[in-house]
Amino acid sequence: MTRPVPPAALRRLAPTLLAACLCAALPATAQTAASAPVELHLPAGPLQASLSSLARQSGIQLLFAADSVSGRNAPALDGRYTPHDALQRLLAGQGLAMQERSPGVFVVNAAPAHAPATPRTPARAASSAPSSATTTSLARVTVSASTARMPQGETAMPNTITVLTREDIAQQLALGSDVSRVLSSQIPAFAPAREKMSNYGETMRGRGILYMVDGVPQSTPLRDGSRDSHTIDPAMIERIEVIHGANALQGIGGTGGIVNIITRSAPSEPGAFLLDTNVSYSAALPSRHDDNGQRGAALVGVRGEQFDLVAGLAHEKQGLYHDGEGRSIGTNAQGELMDSTSSNVFAKLGWNIAEGHRLQVMANRYELRGLDNYLAINGDYRTGRPTISVPGDTPLDPPMNRSRSLTVDYSAADLLGGRFQAQAFAVDFEGRYGASQWDPWGNTGANAAWDQTQNESDKRGFKLTQSWSRIADTTLDVTLGLDGLRDRTHQVLLASGMNWVPQTTYQSLSPLLQLHWWPTDHLMLSGGLRYEKGELEVGDYTTLPRYGARKVAGGKPTMSETLPNFGAVWYINDRLNAYASYSEGYTVADVGRVLRAINRDGQRVDSLIDLSPVVSDNREIGLEYDDGRFSGDIAYYTSESKLGSVLIYDPGIDAYAVQRQATRVEGFESNLRLRLGNSRLGLGYARANGRYDADVDGRLDSDLAGVNIAPNRLTAFWEQSWTPQLSTRLQASHAFDRDFDLRGARVAEFKDYTTLDLVARYTLDKHAFTLGVQNLADKQYISYYSQTTPSNPSYFSGRGRVLTLGWQYRY
Ligand SMILES: *[C@@H]1O[C@H](CO)[C@@H](O)[C@H](O)[C@H]1NC(C)=O
Ligand SMILES: *[C@@H]1O[C@H](CO)[C@@H](O)[C@H](O)[C@H]1NC(C)=O
Ligand SMILES: *[C@@H]1O[C@H](CO)[C@@H](O)[C@H](O)[C@H]1NC(C)=O
Repeated sequence: MTRPVPPAALRRLAPTLLAACLCAALPATAQTAASAPVELHLPAGPLQASLSSLARQSGIQLLFAADSVSGRNAPALDGRYTPHDALQRLLAGQGLAMQERSPGVFVVNAAPAHAPATPRTPARAASSAPSSATTTSLARVTVSASTARMPQGETAMPNTITVLTREDIAQQLALGSDVSRVLSSQIPAFAPAREKMSNYGETMRGRGILYMVDGVPQSTPLRDGSRDSHTIDPAMIERIEVIHGANALQGIGGTGGIVNIITRSAPSEPGAFLLDTNVSYSAALPSRHDDNGQRGAALVGVRGEQFDLVAGLAHEKQGLYHDGEGRSIGTNAQGELMDSTSSNVFAKLGWNIAEGHRLQVMANRYELRGLDNYLAINGDYRTGRPTISVPGDTPLDPPMNRSRSLTVDYSAADLLGGRFQAQAFAVDFEGRYGASQWDPWGNTGANAAWDQTQNESDKRGFKLTQSWSRIADTTLDVTLGLDGLRDRTHQVLLASGMNWVPQTTYQSLSPLLQLHWWPTDHLMLSGGLRYEKGELEVGDYTTLPRYGARKVAGGKPTMSETLPNFGAVWYINDRLNAYASYSEGYTVADVGRVLRAINRDGQRVDSLIDLSPVVSDNREIGLEYDDGRFSGDIAYYTSESKLGSVLIYDPGIDAYAVQRQATRVEGFESNLRLRLGNSRLGLGYARANGRYDADVDGRLDSDLAGVNIAPNRLTAFWEQSWTPQLSTRLQASHAFDRDFDLRGARVAEFKDYTTLDLVARYTLDKHAFTLGVQNLADKQYISYYSQTTPSNPSYFSGRGRVLTLGWQYRY
């Protein structure tokens, strides 16, 4: 796992050389010897960003003058290269020379004789006043432009940021394809994955997560960060960037954090061709009837002079899951990952229209469908008996989620003296939930009809960003943005054909401004504002017969909010930096719940709905250290929200109001990593405490429930390269005990558990074989969600030991 990476050296090596030292944690498969080829995945982009990624991915140290690389672009690199080779490719035709000073330490500077290539921005007098604006930004991890709204490589966000590289993801995929699990095994601050189709309850820092794919929101705004981690197959994923804590940079939903999934890109050089195929088989160990799953994925990529294309297909079938004692795990009416099939079709076409102008179109269709071979038999949480599955059919259709998206990106490297990026997107989502005997007419008992609901949501939106670096030769970077979004959502009952939640349309337009300033070489200050103006439109409608078929007059409630963020990063020396920040994120309460349950006549939407946004703030301080062998980081945060998301009917005003139900979460997160010869060791710990004001009297009197807060967790891993071909990773996760009280009375309790996973990988030429064992000790436990939200139908065990065998072929 790669975390806030390499604090940079700001030291000067030679009078004219301003140095950035990037010493990264080595992936397990990479060799300590800097001459060994390593797997590299560098997207095309600013040279500076590519150099920093190269240093990180290959573990070399890289020293270069800031001014000599600024304003230059590097091609994408994808494949196995020696660091020397890779550097040469990145620097080709740039007028820069490279020299290996000692094994693994490279220096890049302007080529002596020829090579006049002038940087876009005027070079500063490096000898007298070293410009650090760009150099120092290398010190912290850089995230994609689609995450930070700043051109890649110029970002130094004063937040805790985790980037999972393809290497990190690949290791976890050898154990299974659930993205939630990939995240929770790599990031201790994540709640344990539920191993269910629904991500409800998978939170970060006590709140919901905004999921994006290449910057396009996947969650539905009118639900608190609906945690949709299942909208793309992991085969299409290049990296995952996570911003911890509330943040409004990307708009509505990111109250606990933002997860931006970056998709794969075409190979780097013109004429290159890429083929990547994977097949895997998994089964419980010891094997049981009906427990096996198969998966196949293929990705092709080509790059021509002007055009590049990458396209992929993935299909997976999963069998029934079993727990540590060999029992089947119960099926969840909200949808399942087990006993399901999923398929994904993905394509991304790029066109380099002219020097510096690029157009890109991405299309993705993902579908996850329950197979409906099993029925649940309720367990009993009082006696500890878990819910299990038996063969059988539920009435009506099995649960399913389908997501289709189309994204168009345009970027201009030099427009009005700055960089311009535009994105337009359309995302259609359909989620069908399991059937139940929930009668829309209100009949009960044996007379009640079966029905099931389907949520449909379509989003259209755009994001425009214009950024200028080092305005008027100062050290100020400015970004202006404008985001527009229209989200239409409704919920229908499929059997009866009635609308349960009427169609609601949420529209918003939000300008934003973000500033970065370097008052000295060692200090970066950032600040920004986002103004959000939103309107919800609901037409006249009639509630379901079970609520009395009431007529409700439509309306257009509105909201507006200004959300600030500011922070600082202090580069104490070339190994250590500290940061502090304040940011706000927001969401709106789930209005569908109110709309659908109105049970009196003569109501009007305008007076019923309080659209006041629920704003949560995030304050944090952190420290990061990296000396090439040892790296570590620690962050402490608090997150508060004065206005909770609870809607309560207030007879006084005859309306539902968002209650001032304050919440407060406080915690810290820490990671330590050590490289010793061919091994890497790591330890992560995350702790969070959350309280809220249950009786709305202004005092924080109760614990946040398990669906809102993750358990305290300790994770550890040991990676070893035994030979250049063979590497292994052993990882452990421990979730600590926790009690939950509601105004002093204990209401739920969580019993700790530990799981172990093992991954082994053997590479032979273009082939790789992987063996993954999830829950190595076959530990029996009840999932965190089920323990903390006890109910008989959803009292589920965690998955027992699973063996996954994979074969990969890369060309
Ligand atoms: C299905 O959609 C619902 C509603 O948006 C969401 O909560 C859930 O996470 C989705 N599940 C999957 C597997 O995408
Ligand atoms: C194949 O597996 C490797 C890791 O084993 C992963 O990096 C890659 O993304 C996978 N590709 C596809 C197309 O699934
Ligand atoms: C479906 O969407 C509505 C809001 O439009 C939401 O209230 C409801 O919780 C969603 N259902 C599920 C199961 O996600």
